[in-house]
Amino acid sequence: MANVTASIQQTLRESIEAAVTHLRHLDARPWRVLIILGSGLGALADEVADAKRIPYADIPGFARSTVQGHKGQFVIGTLFGVPVAIMQGRMHFYEGYPLWQVTLPVRVARAMGATHMIVTNAAGGINRAFNIADVMLITDHINLVGMAGHNPLIGPNLDEYGPRFPEMTTAYDPELRQRAAQAAQAAGIELRQGVYVCLAGPNFETPAELRFLRAIGADAVGMSTVHEVLVARHAGLRVLGLSGITNVARLSADEGAPPSHEEVMQASAQIAPKIFAIVRDVLPQML
Ligand code: HPA
Repeated sequence: MANVTASIQQTLRESIEAAVTHLRHLDARPWRVLIILGSGLGALADEVADAKRIPYADIPGFARSTVQGHKGQFVIGTLFGVPVAIMQGRMHFYEGYPLWQVTLPVRVARAMGATHMIVTNAAGGINRAFNIADVMLITDHINLVGMAGHNPLIGPNLDEYGPRFPEMTTAYDPELRQRAAQAAQAAGIELRQGVYVCLAGPNFETPAELRFLRAIGADAVGMSTVHEVLVARHAGLRVLGLSGITNVARLSADEGAPPSHEEVMQASAQIAPKIFAIVRDVLPQML
């Protein structure tokens, strides 16, 4: 076991180094903010000035994003005056990748100079007050995948990135949350706030699972984000998290239509402009 985890650490260090060398060779500009765009939210990347697009498939050590609605590339450049790297699509645990590889882009972003991360996702609304196309500011998370024994920080610690036992009381930066709330208000967007719970997926939840998630304090459920936030916080990045509510939970089988990826993609089209408005306001003042 010791040898296995040690070799994962070696692979991880080598992968970070190889990816950084490759990226610097293609575009030497330092990164400041990593922005991860979830399912159907990729359009924000079209606003990047002086954009350089780098497919994950070209980057050594990177997994490919295989999900429909995820382009699978970095868009590097300037957004609203700030040097950014946008992830147009992400990797998920359910695609079969180990969590160190799912979160590799976050460690690479840190090595490229990023100090902040804006992470977005599509999520199912569990809170009864939520509607389709709402945006939820993530105030906290529940890592059910982690509780089941899968955590990207398991294995020998990368001391140059962060401590063995990172604390998570303010994983979602209070100051950035306040700025996002103000930005939403200024743009006339009714911003929801709540706790995001991460499941492995890829199936959607049963009604009994959704009732369980509500009982433990979750407001929205998804299949991403938490792993990236753990690695970002470990590396000292300040994090802002936004969930687009693409469907609302059926807490019993006779309540409404079952969720589908098509529904998620349709709602994302309504959510994208709201996230765009919040990011436009927050990004220039976040550094
Ligand atoms: N469950 C899990 N993940 C999701 C959902 C959902 O209902 N909607 C979008 N991503």
